[in-house]
Amino acid sequence: MIHNLQDTVTLHNGVQMPGFGIGVFKVEEGPELVHAVKFAIKHGYRSIDTAAIYGNEEGVGQAIREGLQETGLSREELFITSKVWNSDLGYESTLAAYETSLKKLGLDYLDLYLIHWPVEGKFKEAWRALETLYKQGRVKAIGVSNFQVHHLEDLMKDAEIKPMINQVEYHPKLTQKEVQSYCLEHGIQLEAWSPLMQGQLLEHPALKEIADKYHKTVPQIILRWDLQNGVITIPKSTKEHRIVENSSVFDFSLSKEDMDQINALNENHRVGPDPDNIDF
Ligand SMILES: NC(=O)c1ccc[n+]([C@@H]2O[C@H](COP(=O)([O-])OP(=O)(O)OC[C@H]3O[C@@H](n4cnc5c(N)ncnc54)[C@H](OP(=O)(O)O)[C@@H]3O)[C@@H](O)[C@H]2O)c1
Repeated sequence: MIHNLQDTVTLHNGVQMPGFGIGVFKVEEGPELVHAVKFAIKHGYRSIDTAAIYGNEEGVGQAIREGLQETGLSREELFITSKVWNSDLGYESTLAAYETSLKKLGLDYLDLYLIHWPVEGKFKEAWRALETLYKQGRVKAIGVSNFQVHHLEDLMKDAEIKPMINQVEYHPKLTQKEVQSYCLEHGIQLEAWSPLMQGQLLEHPALKEIADKYHKTVPQIILRWDLQNGVITIPKSTKEHRIVENSSVFDFSLSKEDMDQINALNENHRVGPDPDNIDF
């Protein structure tokens, strides 16, 4: 269990990954992006989650450079994740996509590189490329995103290296029981995307009731629930007060009863695409 924004979870290869970070999906290049990421770093966030498809790696890179300069932190104190997009899945094309992401970010390594979606017939070649990058020491950890149990099983039939991370949609209405227990059993760390269900759980009555009880907000209850479930979480906000609010989850803990109650809210309800039915 992590106790602050800098605290880490140990991945199966020994790499330390912050248990709490910030995501930048749907944030366009420009001052708002740079300001938000820089503010997060100054506030204590150490982990930033982007992807080639978000089209904002250059701004994230600028925010990292300025954030490091203004805080005096070193690059090694940050944990930067990006993801290879579907159209680049393939051995050579994934290797090239990695170089493009590094260049845009202005970095010489990533902490974590993920296969964004499990496109059938393509993800194994991309995984071979990630293994190459990892074995060459170009990336600290490699993993996947949106992989169901059968995708993980299929990948591991031919893989030399087991993914260190599986980043999936995860929130109180989608608790991913099967994926979570499979990952736990195989030492693959689960990471939550859209932990706040993209802002759609703010008025949920049961969550509001729990939030009132702890004098916390619904986002804080959900993010604390992630942490107590052993899931790394990366809520997105570009607003300073919410970047602060979301990370103010280390001064209370949810009782077992409340954890159970939130776990029971599952409806297998997705806000994002179903990994078994992707057409992009
Ligand atoms: N691997 C994948 O396929 C995948 C897919 C989706 C997302 N992700 C990653 O996961 C990250 C998080 O997911 P997400 O961005 O989809 O959704 P999210 O973090 O669940 O929710 C973000 C939304 O909630 C709002 N919000 C944030 N904090 C709030 C608060 N305290 N109170 C009220 N509203 C709040 C944000 O608005 P404001 O910005 O206006 O505050 C934004 O509209 C992404 O940014 C991305 O890095 C990965």
